[in-house]
Amino acid sequence: MGKPIVITLDGTSASGKSTNAKRVAKALGYSYVDTGAMYRSLAWYCLNKEVDIDDEKAIASMCRSWKTELKNEEGHIRLYIDGYFPSKEIRTAKTSAVTPLVAAVPSVRKWMKAKQRECIEFGNLVMEGRDIGSNVFPDSDFKFYLDASLDERLKRRVADGVNENLAARDKQDSQRSTAPLVIPLGAIVINNSDMTAEETSALIIKEVRTKLGEA
Ligand code: DC
Repeated sequence: MGKPIVITLDGTSASGKSTNAKRVAKALGYSYVDTGAMYRSLAWYCLNKEVDIDDEKAIASMCRSWKTELKNEEGHIRLYIDGYFPSKEIRTAKTSAVTPLVAAVPSVRKWMKAKQRECIEFGNLVMEGRDIGSNVFPDSDFKFYLDASLDERLKRRVADGVNENLAARDKQDSQRSTAPLVIPLGAIVINNSDMTAEETSALIIKEVRTKLGEA
């Protein structure tokens, strides 16, 4: 068997990364990895331990010491913490607000990169995030970058019942010094403002199949 294939899906917030990554993974029979959930989990863990979220050293220390394990549950690879996956807790407004701060700590990004690379032990992957094609798997031949207009992305968040300052979050993600959100070299850019999830995922699947010589 050759090296596992990693399809990288990066992009701005609410650009449809999760929806499309799940659809593509299901269609191709690959496992899905939500790397944002890993950063969110560390943020939740730090809040729980009452760590000062402005204290980079304390956050780095939490990341060194937390007990984690990757598990593949029906094609979704999840990071368990002390045997628990905080699926609801990582989506609260409070956790969402502090996650970009945690995600900006260089040693946290180093730890996450190593953990995310470990996921290939589960085989072929669709991995979504902000630095997957640029930093985690820069050698992937299957890189995609999703975007949509700010108006359209705000509409999608509101439809999900989430009220969030997307422009501020994009700024935080794009301007941090370590592994900022960028269009990875060689990535296919898809602006899906006027596209449905069906159309976006179909386009990604078609590109992947063509590259694999399966089209
Ligand atoms: O995709 P998301 O909204 O769950 O991401 C949560 C936060 O984590 C967001 O501020 C971006 C950050 N993140 C990151 O810096 N790198 C990743 N690979 C994934 C997410």
